[in-house]
Amino acid sequence: MKTIEIRKNLKEKFRQQNIDEVDVDFIIASVLNISHTELNLVDEISAEQIEKINEIASIRLTGKPLDKILGYKYFYGLKFEVNEYVLSPRQETEILVETALKYIKQENYKSVLDLCTGSGCLAVCIKRKTDAEVTATDVSLKALNVAKTNAYKNNANIKFVRSNMFEKIEGKFDLIVSNPPYIASDELKDLDDEVRLFDPLLALDGGELGLKFYNIIHDNAKKHLNDNGMLIMEIGDEQFDLINNLFNDFRLIETVKDYQGINRFVVFKK
Ligand SMILES: C[S@@+](CC[C@H](N)C(=O)[O-])C[C@H]1O[C@@H](n2cnc3c(N)ncnc32)[C@H](O)[C@@H]1O
Repeated sequence: MKTIEIRKNLKEKFRQQNIDEVDVDFIIASVLNISHTELNLVDEISAEQIEKINEIASIRLTGKPLDKILGYKYFYGLKFEVNEYVLSPRQETEILVETALKYIKQENYKSVLDLCTGSGCLAVCIKRKTDAEVTATDVSLKALNVAKTNAYKNNANIKFVRSNMFEKIEGKFDLIVSNPPYIASDELKDLDDEVRLFDPLLALDGGELGLKFYNIIHDNAKKHLNDNGMLIMEIGDEQFDLINNLFNDFRLIETVKDYQGINRFVVFKK
């Protein structure tokens, strides 16, 4: 069957159910084992491949996110395994990687702690792009297993520690990065189904006002940062003023917006 017809038919179905039709291209490309940008080069698709494509498409049409169906997601140009135990890395979080790389270079930082590593996306990207020693932690053993696999598959040598926030963390670092859970507990029910039903609650629930983990980071970061050390965090919508206030004994170095123009990342020095 002609590729163009399959794409057209499936995209129509996706449109009718308000599901991003670009996923059709990703589904077909994943089955053909090519990049979605190469789809135009493929004229015909075999019956066996069509069966597989339809199978994945029908699961996608139930609302399950594509990365959770395929079991992987690309982040900062690298492939990351994902499953029900880790948050699927968000594209905007790539800005945190960019920001960290900028300061690691500028300040010649040699050691990095990634707190709440999840899939390991931050730790792996930072390790791949710098000479820094990278330590990554999470309280979830199942998340840490995914992070370890991602580090191995991406050839990134990272030290992993299972820890409830700073409890098992020893020593000091030049840079601490963190994208902690930051959704206020009473707002979890309002999240899109694709997030609420498929990302782990442990990765989302930030307690009262979504500030639980920022409070812990605030109370512990100074003793784990070297003198010229820095803290870079992703924060939730409308949390900037609260967090700037909470960290008023730190120096705010930079605030970085996400693609929607929302203050999403904060950079503090002690
Ligand atoms: C928002 S996800 C971030 C994952 C990844 N760093 C990213 O940016 O995509 C937050 C992570 O924090 C972890 N977490 C939750 N409670 C924790 C705790 N008490 N100590 C350490 N990690 C925790 C969760 O398991 C989850 O992997």
